[in-house]
Amino acid sequence: MAEAGRRRAQVIVRKATDADLDDLVRMAVELQDHVEASNPKIWHMSEAGRRSKRVEMMDALRDPEGMVVVATGGEGELVGMATGRILRKEEMTVKVAGSIERVIVRKKWRGGGIGTRLVAALSSFFDEKGVGDITVRYVLGNVEGETFWKGLGFEPRIEIANIGPGKLRQELKKLMGSDETP
Ligand SMILES: CC(C)(COP(=O)(O)OP(=O)(O)OC[C@H]1O[C@@H](n2cnc3c(N)ncnc32)[C@H](O)[C@@H]1OP(=O)(O)O)[C@@H](O)C(=O)NCCC(=O)NCCS
Repeated sequence: MAEAGRRRAQVIVRKATDADLDDLVRMAVELQDHVEASNPKIWHMSEAGRRSKRVEMMDALRDPEGMVVVATGGEGELVGMATGRILRKEEMTVKVAGSIERVIVRKKWRGGGIGTRLVAALSSFFDEKGVGDITVRYVLGNVEGETFWKGLGFEPRIEIANIGPGKLRQELKKLMGSDETP
């Protein structure tokens, strides 16, 4: 891990506004493309899902329990964004958690500490809301994401595992024998 304050891109991190919507949608689609390319086995988003990104980002901007932050470069252009929201879980021992939903920095701006600053802005929001834990989901195979979250001290706790139905039937047959499998 490098020392704090090493490479530092000249950006401003601020709360997003409605005027940022087009750029937020573009970056949300870029993030989707990035994670799908990182691991071809994950469920890919349909065209309808991609079209719904605009509504998704509008909802994120309107969420009273959410925060959307952006980083802007010297000419005011958006170079990164992050979104987070509060999860309330009365049935759990952690009653209020912070969820980091999306973080992306535009390609040529990566590696300059912008992702870290966006997470710092979400961290302040979570502190204000008194969260007891902070969670993020990332795709295995997204090396940038994996390294980034581990570098920030996030520890993987839950794995999501998948198998195709045909393959599961085969595996069950091997374990149970053909007589027992439905
Ligand atoms: C992950 C991401 C947001 C990090 O933003 P960033 O501005 O590049 O991050 P920072 O400059 O603050 O770097 C922090 C750490 O991230 C890791 N990192 C950054 N770029 C990386 C890369 N290309 N490969 C591997 N690790 C990388 C490093 O551990 C780095 O720490 P270091 O500089 O001490 O080595 C950015 O790489 C990105 O947008 N990636 C594509 C989208 C994505 O994967 N988002 C996360 C989805 S869960």
